[in-house]
Amino acid sequence: MRVIAVTSGKGGVGKTNISANLGIALAQFGYRVVLFDADLGLANMDVVLGTSAEYSLHHALDGNLCLAEVIANGPGGVRFVSGGSGVSKLINISRKRLQNFLLELAQLEESTDVLVFDTGAGVDQRVLTFLRAANEVIVVVTPDPASITDAYATIKVLLRNQKDANVQVLMNQVESERQGEAIYRKLNDIASQFLEANLSYLGCVRHDMDIVPWIRLRQPFVLADPRLKASRDVVDIAKAIGNRAKLFGSEGGLVIRLETAFGIKREMPEEPRALAA
Ligand SMILES: Nc1ncnc2c1ncn2[C@@H]1O[C@H](COP(=O)(O)OP(=O)(O)O)[C@@H](O)[C@H]1O
Ligand SMILES: [Mg+2]
Repeated sequence: MRVIAVTSGKGGVGKTNISANLGIALAQFGYRVVLFDADLGLANMDVVLGTSAEYSLHHALDGNLCLAEVIANGPGGVRFVSGGSGVSKLINISRKRLQNFLLELAQLEESTDVLVFDTGAGVDQRVLTFLRAANEVIVVVTPDPASITDAYATIKVLLRNQKDANVQVLMNQVESERQGEAIYRKLNDIASQFLEANLSYLGCVRHDMDIVPWIRLRQPFVLADPRLKASRDVVDIAKAIGNRAKLFGSEGGLVIRLETAFGIKREMPEEPRALAA
């Protein structure tokens, strides 16, 4: 299972719309996708998908339901977990319950190809937790200068926390492909100079006013009108993500990675001294 976290430096750049539509595009290519709303500030994945879930992460953390039971069916074949305020609960629950939850999350592996975390913006510890839990991080950047500098700040903190983080830049709301690439190149130059990091480029989604009415109607634009510029761009990015699958073949140790990300230290098994003696 690939675990992809979508984040940004600044809010309002299009993370949730990109996560939702990208998830749907991946589902249309045959991947089994689960979208996980991990944004504490503005948890609106359900609104963007135009569906409401009966249960949320709350119910799974209360111990009344298991994670599989709170997963709802969304449009276009995606499934989703409504997180919202349940996400902050993750910080406060007991170690045992958290461990159990992470185990359930890892067990999604059997039924899921791609798990997408739609996180909040910025460098909040809780956001970082999800970024560490992922094996790929998509940073959504727009041509707005504040979005670029904030994206750099986020990438810097992420790499300080996790040197080998796999950071992929997705340019959103660009005027042209060329503009998207130029901004990515600038960002990558600075990252390689000051952070000794290589960011990869996932591609761009053009600014497209024709998606706005669909967003208002709570209909994912890739489904509502696949011919729109933004829809075609999202599908291209889904293709690119699919093509990279081989690079990130499902590795073992997902539970351990999740536990490390969420700050659970494993007790090392005791050395079998008694046996050796
Ligand atoms: N490619 C795009 N073209 C035009 N408008 C966009 C595009 N992407 C995002 N938007 C606008 O940005 C708004 C915020 O998007 P959203 O996904 O909620 O951002 P975030 O999750 O980062 O806060 C959308 O409601 C839409 O108006
Ligand atoms: Mg959002």
